[in-house]
Amino acid sequence: MALSSKDLLGLKGMPADEIRLILDTAATFKDVSERDIKKVPTLRGKTVINLFYEASTRTRTSFELAGKRLSADVINISTSTSSAAKGETLLDTARNIEAMKSDIIIVRHSCSGAPHFLAGRLESSIINAGDGFHEHPTQALLDLFTLREKLGRLEGITVAIVGDILHSRVARSNIYGLIAMGARVRLCGPPTMMPAGIERTGAEVYRNMDEAIKGVQAVMMLRLQLERQAAGLFPGVREYARLYGMNRARLEAAGKGVIVMHPGPMNRGVEIASDVADNDSVILEQVTNGVAVRMAVMFLLSGGNKAEA
Ligand code: CP
Repeated sequence: MALSSKDLLGLKGMPADEIRLILDTAATFKDVSERDIKKVPTLRGKTVINLFYEASTRTRTSFELAGKRLSADVINISTSTSSAAKGETLLDTARNIEAMKSDIIIVRHSCSGAPHFLAGRLESSIINAGDGFHEHPTQALLDLFTLREKLGRLEGITVAIVGDILHSRVARSNIYGLIAMGARVRLCGPPTMMPAGIERTGAEVYRNMDEAIKGVQAVMMLRLQLERQAAGLFPGVREYARLYGMNRARLEAAGKGVIVMHPGPMNRGVEIASDVADNDSVILEQVTNGVAVRMAVMFLLSGGNKAEA
């Protein structure tokens, strides 16, 4: 089995068997990062470009490591030191990169739809590393991988996603991916940060966090985008932490063994208490799994299938 598209732009509409293929392939790559020599020759001769128009620690580094562990040649382009700073358009930049014979271009951009725009105009495989408020598919795939690893399944589980749903590309990709895999999704956050009509995805909306997280298998906390505080979408950080923050008392009331996740970067003491983040979360396991998931995505988009991994 192979992926049906040359690109990975989002999880909306991605069939469950393709998501399962990525997760199964990632499982076969996970041990590469545990070895002394963390490298396999799978993508030798392929050229991977990280084209990031927004800041990133986890996603950019993890794509770079994933490419290098597959023996691809990986180049990082930061827009502050590229000709984008002189006003070159996204398409011109991407076409010039492709003229140097890229195979995969990984794009992070503040504009929703930027990776889709490139995918229709370039032959290289385009991977969406986060576009505006739209999607962040590899983050959701690594979240699904982590949940499946912990729980042994995705079908039938219930996951609460808490925080600024409106501006979260992580939330959107997770909603699509989890529901495609047969999980139930509960959403909770300030009413001003809940997209109108989000129930049409199949997710359930909760106003009260304690009710939203009661009896679930996992809670995904989202970063409070503090830069949006000026827009008056919530009364204040302290109020937000009280109503929508994960802390020990809340975690214990939610039930035994609830998995706590966060995509990072986190605001300690705001959406998640340090005590919970450091002692009760799987945040760093999510980051570890991100490398295997991104190896799988690049391998499959390059024409590989799971049996060869
Ligand atoms: N989770 C995530 O996308 O983190 P970065 O912004 O550091 O890549």
